[in-house]
Amino acid sequence: MTAVVERDRGRRLALAMRADERLMRAVHPIGYPLLEAVPGPVRRVPGIGVVVKDAGLARQVLLDGEAFSKRGRGASSDLWTPVLGESVLVNMHGDDHRALRRRLAPIFAPAFVDPLVQAALGDGAAELERRLLAGERVDLAAHVRQAAGAAIALLVGLDRGAIDDRLFREVTAITGMVRLSRPRFTPPQVRRARAALDELAEHSAAAYRGDESTVPGRLRGLGLDEREALGAVGAFVLTGTETIVSALPRLVALLVDSGTLGELVDDERCERAIAEGLRWTTPTPVMLRATLAPRELGPLRVRAGDRIVIATYAANRAAGGFDPAGSAATGLKQLWFGAGEHFCIGAPLAMAQLRLALGALRRVEADGRRIRIVERRDARGQLLPALAECVLEARA
Ligand code: HEM
Repeated sequence: MTAVVERDRGRRLALAMRADERLMRAVHPIGYPLLEAVPGPVRRVPGIGVVVKDAGLARQVLLDGEAFSKRGRGASSDLWTPVLGESVLVNMHGDDHRALRRRLAPIFAPAFVDPLVQAALGDGAAELERRLLAGERVDLAAHVRQAAGAAIALLVGLDRGAIDDRLFREVTAITGMVRLSRPRFTPPQVRRARAALDELAEHSAAAYRGDESTVPGRLRGLGLDEREALGAVGAFVLTGTETIVSALPRLVALLVDSGTLGELVDDERCERAIAEGLRWTTPTPVMLRATLAPRELGPLRVRAGDRIVIATYAANRAAGGFDPAGSAATGLKQLWFGAGEHFCIGAPLAMAQLRLALGALRRVEADGRRIRIVERRDARGQLLPALAECVLEARA
């Protein structure tokens, strides 16, 4: 690469990162600048908790289940137990959590997930490719909302179209009520969230009682009682749709804005670009824990009862700027999916979805077209930063 080409590439990467940065600010005008302004690797912030911005310290917290828990004051359980019930992974700790993870593992094994993604999303990805090659404009954000809904619908034993745009809006309305400074939902918020999930629970309960061809039915086969199975289904819907809807269009926008999509000429480069994109965008920007026992966290001593706010996106970004060919992601061991016992159980599903969609876009570029974004709009009022609209067009 000549010095001029390299400089131009660097300039375009910087522009792409700035566009994603603007999105973070637009979606979280208070929380994002607030956490950005916290100095140092770890700091006690009144009204928020102990904010951790360093990858090493974040891993220390996530791997130390004796001292830090998702169950407790200010942690995930405060938010999700009133909505989803007691035992739904995201609010569990210790032996019960480990046992449930073990029982759910077969559902997320690549041998189960890959054919599921192909069956649920293969036609949609082919349609995306065909339309772009035909010169049509395609809204990638709408495409991924539909695709993520179809994948989760299959996973929870519903018809393909059961998780539609309306249900997606209801799910984002639930997560959109979360605020950094508000560890719990108010009673009316809990009622609203439950009403949205009740509709799904009805379908899943029927599937649970049916044969093992659906996931709820399979969960029964795996030994989960109905309450556990329906809780797991609720957790999958809450965690598995918005994350992917945040990740894919932002990753594609980074690649398109920086003109680097065409660099993904083989699967290895594509994997590296996905890791870099997930590192830079960190779709789940924050993780919460309650402290159970005193610990030294870098220069700070934390006590039982302290709320820990891991600013994952800040820890990930500290490794360097976005570069799909770069190696900044390597040392982070996929921190964007968490670490330790709560490491994202849906990661194989997320990766399969990202590979499928990127594969379609790569083939369009390999056909001699250049994809560009002709319209984009930031999502508002939801927890995870996302593009509400990301219209693509491919030109020769
Ligand atoms: C790019 C997409 C995704 C990202 C970035 C992501 C990120 C994460 C992170 C960071 C955690 C750990 C949270 C913590 O420790 O506090 C997590 C947990 C989890 N994720 Fe994902 N996720 C994604 C997609 C999915 C999908 C598609 C599913 C589908 C079901 C899913 C299901 C879950 C569940 C159930 C947990 C809780 C696991 C536990 O507590 O044991 N995620 N995810």
